[in-house]
Amino acid sequence: MSKTKETPGTNPVLSQQDMKIREKLQQIDHKIMVMSGKGGVGKSTVSINLAVGLSLENFYVGLLDVDLHGPNIPKMLGVERGELQRRPDGTVGPVYYSPNLKFMSVEPLLPEKDSAVMWRGPLKMSAIRQFIYDIEWGKLDYLVIDAPPGTGDEPMTVAQIIPDAYAIVVTTPQEVSLLDVRKSLNFCKQVKMPVLGIVENMSGMICPHCGKAVDIFKRGGGEKLSEELEIPFLGRIPVDPRIVTTGDAGHPLISAYPGSHTAEAFEKVVRNAINVTHMMAAEKTENQ
Ligand SMILES: Nc1ncnc2c1ncn2[C@@H]1O[C@H](COP(=O)(O)OP(=O)(O)OP(=O)(O)O)[C@@H](O)[C@H]1O
Ligand SMILES: [Mg+2]
Repeated sequence: MSKTKETPGTNPVLSQQDMKIREKLQQIDHKIMVMSGKGGVGKSTVSINLAVGLSLENFYVGLLDVDLHGPNIPKMLGVERGELQRRPDGTVGPVYYSPNLKFMSVEPLLPEKDSAVMWRGPLKMSAIRQFIYDIEWGKLDYLVIDAPPGTGDEPMTVAQIIPDAYAIVVTTPQEVSLLDVRKSLNFCKQVKMPVLGIVENMSGMICPHCGKAVDIFKRGGGEKLSEELEIPFLGRIPVDPRIVTTGDAGHPLISAYPGSHTAEAFEKVVRNAINVTHMMAAEKTENQ
């Protein structure tokens, strides 16, 4: 499909689809895309623990994995090859993780678990549109969107189809990663996506022997940057080997180790995300 044909309003089928997408998105109160300029900084880990944390606060939550080439959410939630909800009226719902947390990723649509997705721009864009258009998410308080690294087709498509999405930018304390944060922030500025805040991941470390927090790595860079740029700082998550084991085992740390230092760090991020979202939503209503 050519770019001109995709412009809403010039193609009747597409504008109908746009309208349906808009209608469906109206049922979702808050949309949050978790992004970063750099790979492997913990976006999927933050997305999952944020989504599970919100669901533990009794919110209705959806988790949308728009990382089409590396969909990690199903494995990290322990629901690989999960079943989409095929309803008698022909509609399709996302995969259930718990009664109030459902997720969608490209994984349930692949013929095999290890199938490689070899899609380019337009196909990726239409896949993400269909995640909203074809999937019955129903009424949700929060939709958390896990993006692949960088500012390519996937976050761009999210920005286009979900104009009221907020961004959470994940970083690690290193200088190089902080430079990448600035790129993500510039992207948000260009696409007019308000930034909910920064999460500093792998900040300090939890000793695998005594379980106490140890400051062996440099930390605080994300907080400094957020102060400098006047963006809320949502919290820091320490390096904790249990994040890897719980991620691999499909039991998100926030629910697998309640009361631990790291679970509390995630809970703080969840609380801050709730507060800032509500504050920003209220500001938006006031300005309307
Ligand atoms: N705070 C942490 N402590 C220890 N390990 C962590 C932490 N955060 C993430 N990890 C581990 O680092 C790896 C990368 O994390 P994750 O997949 O969440 O990153 P990502 O930014 O989503 O990566 P990608 O850019 O590939 O999508 C995973 O194995 C994860 O378990
Ligand atoms: Mg990821």
